[in-house]
Amino acid sequence: MVIKMKTLVCGKGGSGKSTVAALLAKSMDRRGYRVLVVDSDESNYGLHRLLGLDLPEPLMSFFGGKKEMIGKMMKAFPKGEQIKLFDGKWGFDDIPREHLATKNGISLLAIGKIHDFGEGCACPMGALAKMFLDNLEVKESEVVIVDTEAGIEHFGRGVEQGCDMILAVLDPTYESLQLSKKILDISQKIGKDLRFVLNRVDSDREEAMLKSLANDRVAVAIPEDKRIFMAGLVGEDIDVRIDEIEKLADLVGAKA
Ligand SMILES: Nc1ncnc2c1ncn2[C@@H]1O[C@H](COP(=O)(O)OP(=O)(O)OP(=O)(O)O)[C@@H](O)[C@H]1O
Ligand SMILES: [Mg+2]
Repeated sequence: MVIKMKTLVCGKGGSGKSTVAALLAKSMDRRGYRVLVVDSDESNYGLHRLLGLDLPEPLMSFFGGKKEMIGKMMKAFPKGEQIKLFDGKWGFDDIPREHLATKNGISLLAIGKIHDFGEGCACPMGALAKMFLDNLEVKESEVVIVDTEAGIEHFGRGVEQGCDMILAVLDPTYESLQLSKKILDISQKIGKDLRFVLNRVDSDREEAMLKSLANDRVAVAIPEDKRIFMAGLVGEDIDVRIDEIEKLADLVGAKA
């Protein structure tokens, strides 16, 4: 069977990206995969809690921090050059331990975080996320799940080029439906397998959403779930097993 080694989760703000990424990671862990969750959203402070982990020191600091990255980019880009951060390919075991938080078979890597006021430029984040993912070699018993920042800016930075599948999480809002059209358009242009994950829906909401969506792309419809909501509110390890997530996990890979 084909394993989707690198899956990217995207969607509008608050649609449920981090929740879906965390639940999918847990399911893949139960299936025996080694799971790397990549947090490429610099203003995300909830994902690690859903995984029951502490926030690891971001990878950005391994490469000298954001200012250093911006400096390198400013030097290279006007000359049309690429910056080179990696000497060779990395596998899971080459990622520096001090930049990972691990529990059971799940490891979390954060690309970068906004620590200080005025550090808000996300360009180096996108650049590092792209370089890291492009450079990462994944074995058959391993999967990578990337949680992205809200919106579609990361598409412009090419973060999804190295991914095998894109999951767009759509909550029942006009904004999500509009965004789905843009994401479909972009994913077709870059030739990526796109699936929609409807979130927080009942049958009425699902029916209404399906009227405005490319239906053949819809993978699952996740209901509003009190346990999911409470885990997000309290900031605790999310331990919710639902069929819809198992269906998504089937798309990524059955058994390791
Ligand atoms: N199916 C669901 N049932 C109940 N609550 C949900 C569900 N999915 C997500 N939520 C809640 O919705 C809120 C937003 O979810 P989440 O943080 O995963 O969204 P996000 O897209 O990652 O947001 P951001 O854009 O801020 O990163 C959280 O409070 C979460 O607990
Ligand atoms: Mg999030």
